Amino acid sequence: MATKRMADLPGTTDRRIDALLTLLAENSTIVISGAKIAKEIGVTRQQVWRWIEKLRALGVRVKGHPRSGYHIERMPDILVPQMLSHRLYGTPFARRIYHFFKIDSTNSVAMRLGESGEPHGTIVLAEEQTAGRGRAGREWTSEKSAGIYCSILLRPPIPPAHAPLLTLVAGLAARDAAAEDLDTLPDIRWPNDLLVGGRKVCGILTEMRAEPDRIHYAVIGIGMNVNQSKMPEELSDIATSLRIETGKIHSRLELLIRLLRSVDRYYNQFLADGAAPILRRFAEVSSYFKGKRVRITTATETFTGTTAGLEPSGVLRVARDDGREIVPVLSGDVAEAP
Ligand code: BTN
Repeated sequence: MATKRMADLPGTTDRRIDALLTLLAENSTIVISGAKIAKEIGVTRQQVWRWIEKLRALGVRVKGHPRSGYHIERMPDILVPQMLSHRLYGTPFARRIYHFFKIDSTNSVAMRLGESGEPHGTIVLAEEQTAGRGRAGREWTSEKSAGIYCSILLRPPIPPAHAPLLTLVAGLAARDAAAEDLDTLPDIRWPNDLLVGGRKVCGILTEMRAEPDRIHYAVIGIGMNVNQSKMPEELSDIATSLRIETGKIHSRLELLIRLLRSVDRYYNQFLADGAAPILRRFAEVSSYFKGKRVRITTATETFTGTTAGLEPSGVLRVARDDGREIVPVLSGDVAEAP
């Protein structure tokens, strides 16, 4: 079967800049001549020079000039599709990676790609979002090249009623990926906020188009705060970054590779063995699973109660303080209550 060509989206990073960066990064110890680069990526030497200047303006430290050749001083932490593809080989995420230096929202792009028939596993990445979207209509602050802003397009063969499980899959994957870079274990606040020391380092927005019995496509948008040295003042009580927590700079590239491999593992496990292992894993790693005092805010009301596990569909069960029996919480904000 012929593979569908990748969509020509305005603003995506030119594949040849991608190739240039990969070439420089993979040969970081040697000087490569402008002529060799030009030949390898199929452009003129002048174009190579112009792109090198562009990369420098973006903070990539490239040494040298057209006569002497170029070499990269430090591996840039840019989420370059070509480098990612190599490392994601064997997962459905290796083949179609759309990268933007700047875009409004990766979820918006991925939803449009879903609509236009783009296949399962397509990834949309941005170094910066100008209108990053969070849950409940909130904004997601997306500082340039500090966080991971990634949307995953999935075409899961499940009914929409099971979609909360997809959300859990993404949260578990993000937790495992981040845990390797942390000294303390992150918590998951249902359904999938990643918390370190009670503050959020990662949020996930799942959007989809579905009919009552099938999902056409789902977009899992993951925002992870990685190298922000401080969070905006209005968020500093509730949000943090891996760098703030550890005092170290982290490789977004390595984190993203771990994250996507981990999504692949949990997703396959979910399709093969159903909800049970996902629910078990959530119970192991989330303090919100059972016995947690919470305040729930839904579209219609706010109430307090104690968590009482998850339904088989991934929906949270809460024993309400006001005496009514245990209720399912399909969506809403969950906060720790005294
Ligand atoms: C939340 O409110 O916790 C969800 C935040 C989700 C943010 C990510 S960043 C990548 C993707 N694109 C968006 O516009 N939002 C999601």
